[in-house]
Amino acid sequence: MKRIGVLTSGGDAPGMNAAIRAVVRTAIVNGMEVIGIERGYQGTLDKAFRPMGMRSVSDTVQRGGTILRTARCADFVKSEYQDVAIANMREAGMEGLVVIGGDGSLRGAQALSNKGFPTVGIPGTIDNDLEYTDYTLGFHTACDTCLEAIDKIRDTSSSHDRFTIIEVMGRRCGDIALYTGIAGGAELIIIPEVNLTFSQIKKELIDASHKGKTSGLVVLAEGVCSADELMKYLQRETKLSVRATVLGHQQRGGSPTMRDRMLATQFGYHAVGLLKKDIGNRVVGIRKEKIVDDDIDEALALPHKFKKELYKMANVVSQ
Ligand code: F6P
Repeated sequence: MKRIGVLTSGGDAPGMNAAIRAVVRTAIVNGMEVIGIERGYQGTLDKAFRPMGMRSVSDTVQRGGTILRTARCADFVKSEYQDVAIANMREAGMEGLVVIGGDGSLRGAQALSNKGFPTVGIPGTIDNDLEYTDYTLGFHTACDTCLEAIDKIRDTSSSHDRFTIIEVMGRRCGDIALYTGIAGGAELIIIPEVNLTFSQIKKELIDASHKGKTSGLVVLAEGVCSADELMKYLQRETKLSVRATVLGHQQRGGSPTMRDRMLATQFGYHAVGLLKKDIGNRVVGIRKEKIVDDDIDEALALPHKFKKELYKMANVVSQ
């Protein structure tokens, strides 16, 4: 391939810039030109294309967000829009594409691949909800951001003998809550994969207070319910002092951790290596610390598996 495109799509994730940088520099070193596509798939429809040279990605490896901007393009699920995107990219001389994004974005990459436009996906989302890879880009940084907040909230919760519910991101996948709940020493972790009723949650907290806990943290994934709703229920139904904090979009920003910068660089380097060999229709990932690539259809068809052992361990160490 002589020229490839790169775009970031969906919710941004720390490390996206480091991935763009790796794609641009690896491609140029291998004699290919790179076109940056702005605002995800929307940019393929608007022809928001800009050539990217070596220096266009200088000073970006440490920056959060995405220099290419991102968007959620609802129209892109429609076949006719995908055809326009392919025609526009071909007209601009692109022969392949690297898509950096989460589940929905990689489904766009799958559609382009299936229509014959060689595309390689890089899993870029804080949610860690793609089964084929052990980790997605941005998850580690987002968890560190949560942990910093969780540790601070613990200080004030214990000073006030209080239980605080901390709502973190994660609609269908509770990994952010699970990992930060374990690492932050939460009394209770509430995730979409485990069906806990409000009365069970109440019982857990009352039991904790009977066991001598005067304060505690509940890490709640946003996909279950709102922290506010749960707080109001517990305030009404118990004598415990309960507060709620929503961490929100700060989880998506900030400078990527070393681990995310490494992942980003390895993913970007590997993705271009595939396109250089004219191999598309793949997604890159990491399994057992090894960078891998898989067939895009097979990878995206894998059902989400709940990390039961981690959840079980969390319940033991929170006693
Ligand atoms: O990037 C994924 C995600 O962070 C989800 O966890 C969250 O629900 C969603 O994006 C929110 O995105 P936005 O507010 O940008 O629509």
